[in-house]
Amino acid sequence: MAGFLGATYDWVKAAHVIFVIFWMAGLFMLPRYLVYHQEGLGDPAEEARWIDREAKLRRIILTPAMIVVWVLGLALAFNAGIADGVPGLGWLHAKLALVLLLSAYHGWAVGYAKKLARGQATVANRTLRMLNEVPAIGAVLIVVLVIVKPF
Ligand code: HEM
Repeated sequence: MAGFLGATYDWVKAAHVIFVIFWMAGLFMLPRYLVYHQEGLGDPAEEARWIDREAKLRRIILTPAMIVVWVLGLALAFNAGIADGVPGLGWLHAKLALVLLLSAYHGWAVGYAKKLARGQATVANRTLRMLNEVPAIGAVLIVVLVIVKPF
């Protein structure tokens, strides 16, 4: 399957990076919303505003962008020969592992937004603020892997 994208490779890669930007934008915003939402618990008007903002962010940006990034990213990975045993793709396996973790974090953040919508705050404010840094750390490691390809 390696090389099946042919002349479309650069276009697929460009679209991949564009949707990565959209997904990361959403992943930077949602956890920040969660902090504000949690601080606003007890004020029904404030709570309703954050529930609406979180649902829109999820429906319009986060979920569609993550799906497109995965579809195009997997096309690039098969094109690179990940399924054909092509050597020298250690960086890609490491990247896939990190993107899986980022996707799990996405799932956790969406789940926590739904918990907050039910009025359940199970994570301390300080911990929630620290968890805000996860997407930034993930993006740094993933970009170094794809650009530097250290192994
Ligand atoms: C969802 C699963 C993903 C898969 C399977 C995937 C796979 C790939 C592959 C195979 C390439 C081509 C690399 C090359 O040939 O040099 C690529 C390019 C790239 N990916 Fe992903 N990717 C995914 C998600 C992400 C995420 C989350 C980010 C950033 C946070 C990202 C950032 C990039 C960048 C910046 C490039 C361009 C690198 C270059 O200039 O060649 N990708 N991706």
